[in-house]
Amino acid sequence: MTMSRRKAISLIGGGAVFAATTSAAGFLATRTPHKALEPWTTAGSYREPRKFALSYAILAPNPHNRQPWLVDLAQPGRVILMRDKQRDLPMTDPHNRQLIIGLGCFLELMSIAAAQKGFDVAHDIFPSGEDGPVAVSTFTPGAQPDPLFSDIMQRRSCKEPFEDKPVPAGLVADLGNFATIIDQPEPVAALRKLTLDAWMVEATTPHTMRESVDLMRFGKAEINANPDGIDLGGPFLETLMLAGQLTREGQLDPSSSGFQQGVELYRNMLAATPAYAVLTSAANTRTDQIEAGRRWLRLNLMTTRLGLALHPVSQALQEYPEMATHYESAHDMLAEPGHTVQMLGRLGFGPEVQETPRWPLETRIAHG
Ligand SMILES: Cc1cc2nc3c(=O)[nH]c(=O)nc-3n(C[C@H](O)[C@H](O)[C@H](O)COP(=O)(O)O)c2cc1C
Repeated sequence: MTMSRRKAISLIGGGAVFAATTSAAGFLATRTPHKALEPWTTAGSYREPRKFALSYAILAPNPHNRQPWLVDLAQPGRVILMRDKQRDLPMTDPHNRQLIIGLGCFLELMSIAAAQKGFDVAHDIFPSGEDGPVAVSTFTPGAQPDPLFSDIMQRRSCKEPFEDKPVPAGLVADLGNFATIIDQPEPVAALRKLTLDAWMVEATTPHTMRESVDLMRFGKAEINANPDGIDLGGPFLETLMLAGQLTREGQLDPSSSGFQQGVELYRNMLAATPAYAVLTSAANTRTDQIEAGRRWLRLNLMTTRLGLALHPVSQALQEYPEMATHYESAHDMLAEPGHTVQMLGRLGFGPEVQETPRWPLETRIAHG
């Protein structure tokens, strides 16, 4: 991992948070949660085709890194994917829309990785309705490799300020096949404001903030013990923790200096955004949500390939009463009447960031 002098910190909003100075590289080595990152090194090391594909699928982006996937491998040549309801996000994702999008990302990664081994995967989405499996996926020989396979290991959600540099028109055009790209000054300015205002609602609404803070993992030991949620790690943050400046209680208290610092960092990060990527759908069925996840995953692999950073900023798309005004603004700005904005993400040139933790594949296999 390359070390920028100061890697920005996002205290809230999900995902990896690492901060360091160049001189702290030695300390960093000792603070890296190697155990929690192991699935990134064991990906691809399985001979059995379904496990090979699943070892990449578990690296999928997903809200708050909850990893709500459980698979049943009891039937040969099949993966039955279930949503682990223990991992729901009832406050910020009351209809599980975002969790289902994350499962769509998982399925697309599984397909891309299976194709690398020559297997085509047919997904039957929610075949027995909402309460049954998310997908029954059948592997059959005959697929060609997918060029995006080679971008899987470098894909990230980049929760950092982006460079003050526009996304070149050629790259905007390349990405036009994957998402709607917004890079004109006026709508970009409006979205910067909307994403900050919406984030402030999440951060100052006690029940939504509590949901995030409960999922924060403070330091290497907590991250290794629970390799999911919002990981606050690295030497800089661990030093703040040791000094008592970064605490769970502080993150819940909007008047604390730790909370205020988090707001400042988030404000700066959201401002440092030259463009946005948007996915909408005409309807909002579970299948549309799975499809949105599959599209987001391909977009994220393509941005990786093009040297661009992508970061979902979902607060304004969340469906709880305190967010209703921003939800409406997001839809007015980004979707045709009656359509649903499934994903909104910051797009630009960002720094290299570390992988986020994952539960090992073996812990996500329910049967087989
Ligand atoms: C549907 C969805 C919504 C997300 N929303 C946010 C968000 O609002 N803020 C954020 O920082 N990350 C968001 N993420 C990114 C996740 O936090 C990230 O995927 C997860 O922490 C794993 O990290 P990785 O994508 O770098 O592997 C979202 C991801 C998905 C799939």
